[in-house]
Amino acid sequence: MDRIFQVEPSISSDDIEAVNNYISSGSWITENNLTLELENNIRNYLGREYAVAVPNGTIAIYLSLLSAGIKDGMKVAVPNLTMIATINAVLWANADPILVDVDESLCMSYEKLLELEGKIDCVIFVPLNGRTGEGEKIQKWCKENEIIFIEDSAHALGSNYELSKCGALGDLSILSFTPHKIITMGQGGMILTDDESLYDYLISIKTFNRSKEKSDWHEGFGLNFKITDLQAALGISQFEKLNFFVEKKLNTLKYYEENIHSNVLTIKPFKETEVPWFFDVEFDSKRIKDGFKEYLDKNGIETRDVYPALSSQKYLDEYKSDNLEYSENIYNKLLWLPSGNNISEEQLSFICETISKFK
Ligand SMILES: Cc1ncc(COP(=O)(O)O)c(C=O)c1O
Repeated sequence: MDRIFQVEPSISSDDIEAVNNYISSGSWITENNLTLELENNIRNYLGREYAVAVPNGTIAIYLSLLSAGIKDGMKVAVPNLTMIATINAVLWANADPILVDVDESLCMSYEKLLELEGKIDCVIFVPLNGRTGEGEKIQKWCKENEIIFIEDSAHALGSNYELSKCGALGDLSILSFTPHKIITMGQGGMILTDDESLYDYLISIKTFNRSKEKSDWHEGFGLNFKITDLQAALGISQFEKLNFFVEKKLNTLKYYEENIHSNVLTIKPFKETEVPWFFDVEFDSKRIKDGFKEYLDKNGIETRDVYPALSSQKYLDEYKSDNLEYSENIYNKLLWLPSGNNISEEQLSFICETISKFK
C-alpha cells in the first residue's frame, strides 16, 4: 500500500470545475463578487452579522486584535496549547500575551483563567481540534467582566458548543482555510463579528481605507488584506461540502474507535456536538509514544505530534510561568493519527490492523 499521509487536502472534480469556470470567465481574478458570496455563505451558516475574508488565519487574529483596540502593553490571555499563530498575532499587535494552562479538553482552563481576574484586557479562546471545553463559560465570564473575547476557531468550522456553533461565539471569531483545515482555498482566513463598528474598521484597514466617493482618496491609514475571487471560487465549492466533510470526520472517528484494539493507547473522546479536526491518541509515556510513531512510520503510516506547549518554545521563554504543567506534558503523550478527508476504508482498515498489532 502507498504511504498514508497524516493529512492531505480533499479536492474533487467539482472544485476543479468551479476554479476552471471562474478562470475562464474573463474576470479580474482579484477580490470581488465571489468573495462576497463566500463571506455571505459562511456568515449565514454561523448566524453572524458580518464576515470579512482575509489572506490567512494569522492575519485574521491580528486584525481582530487591532479592531478591538488591543495595542501596546495590553494583556491578552492565550491558551498554552495552540498553534503558534495565536500568540504570534498577539506579539505582532505589540500586546503582552499571558499563557493560561489548558484542561483535559485541551482548551483553556476556566479555573486557571479566573486567577487572572482584573489583570487582562482580552481572551483568545481556541476550540482546539474541534473540542469546545469551557468556551461558553469563558465567553460569559468575559462578557460580565468587559473583557474582549476572541475565538480562534481555525480548527473548528462545523463543530459546536452546547448552545452555539464554533465561529459564532466571539466578539470576533476567526477561521482558517489552509489545505489541512476542514475546508480549504489554499490559504485564506475569515473574521466574523456582529459589531458594525468592528466590521467598518476591518473593511477600512483591509482596503487601503479608501474613500467611498473618490477612489484614490483615503479616509486614513489602510493596508491591503484582500484575497482573490480565484480562491473564493474554491472556497465556495468546498463550503458546499462542509456537511459531507463533517460526516466523514465523524465516521472516521467511529471507525477508529471500533477497530483499534490496543492497551497501549486510548483514543481521546469527543462530545456528541463536537467534530474532530484530527484524531488524537494518548499514551502513558513519551517513550511509548515515540516507539509507536516510529513503528507506524516504518509501516508507511504518517502521524503528527501535537503542538508543543507555547511555553516550551525557546523564543517565548519570557512568558513562561510555574502554572502550565498540564499543557507542557501533553506533547509527551499525544499524537495525531491520519485524519484527512480523502482517507479510504481500505487505508483505515490497514491503519487499525497495524495499530492493533503494536505491543
Ligand atoms: C489554532 C490555529 N490558529 C490560527 C492558525 C493560523 O491560520 P493560518 O495558517 O491560516 O494563518 C492556525 C493554522 O494552522 C491554527 O491551527
